[in-house]
Amino acid sequence: MTAAAGLRITDLTVTYPGPRTSGFGRRSSITAVDAVSLDVAPDETVALVGESGSGKSTIARAVVGLVAASAGSIDFDGASLLNLRTRDQWARRNIAMIFQDPRSALNPRMSAEASIREAWEAHPDAAPEDVRNDPRRRRAAVVDLLAQVGLDPDVAGKRPTALSGGQCQRVSIARALALSPRLLICDEAVSALDVSVQAQVLQLLVRVRAARSLSMLFITHDLGVVRQVADRVAVMRRGELVENADVRTLFTAPQHDYTKQLLAAAVDLDVRG
Ligand SMILES: Nc1ncnc2c1ncn2[C@@H]1O[C@H](COP(=O)(O)OP(=O)(O)O)[C@@H](O)[C@H]1O
Ligand SMILES: [Mg+2]
Repeated sequence: MTAAAGLRITDLTVTYPGPRTSGFGRRSSITAVDAVSLDVAPDETVALVGESGSGKSTIARAVVGLVAASAGSIDFDGASLLNLRTRDQWARRNIAMIFQDPRSALNPRMSAEASIREAWEAHPDAAPEDVRNDPRRRRAAVVDLLAQVGLDPDVAGKRPTALSGGQCQRVSIARALALSPRLLICDEAVSALDVSVQAQVLQLLVRVRAARSLSMLFITHDLGVVRQVADRVAVMRRGELVENADVRTLFTAPQHDYTKQLLAAAVDLDVRG
């Protein structure tokens, strides 16, 4: 059997320690993700939706190694991401994550250029060839990356405090792209931005995805966004995956009652807005 290409999550369970109980009893635990299986094929965009606290971010964190899996497996192109060695080789450079709050995702003391260069310094083998061969080319490569995310060259010297939220998110995206990842995980990547800026950053992500043939795991609570970006939609509820369907099927023939509720709630919002 050949190894599956892309991301393959199988029976993933993640638990967090629960609140400390006084006295003797055992410390409780919270099952944030409960036996979830989910694939993202090469070139595919999968939206992960569900109410707050349903376990979406925990799945993303497990994929990039920010939390440990209690059970199950996570593979990328057939290599386990739970194996620390492969994780270093693969995940760090092949999988990049964009977070909701662009300011806290960037080091406040670093200029945009320094943030991008830091990624190359941490993974020299994944830096662009010209940068690897000639450090003087770095500045030009930084400016080129900034241009790809719609930022002017003068942004290179600026720190997050000198940039708008939308500009910070673009810098985060440039930094994520610096190592030419194959999978981009966006965790509510536009939710914290002003509505007009949301649309621009979303367009940017869609453009970048097409230009670089990226796979995306796109976490959002906004079903309008899902319709614009996703090929397939996975619906989480209380740690469980309750539905996984292509985008058209999900919107026209939802199977699970919870998905129907989500869609109905979104329609209500549309009517009011
Ligand atoms: N660091 C943590 N410690 C303990 N519980 C957590 C932690 N992070 C998340 N949780 C809990 O795990 C569940 C899933 O959270 P999360 O993955 O952040 O959901 P979502 O991203 O869908 O809002 C929630 O019940 C949340 O309270
Ligand atoms: Mg979340």
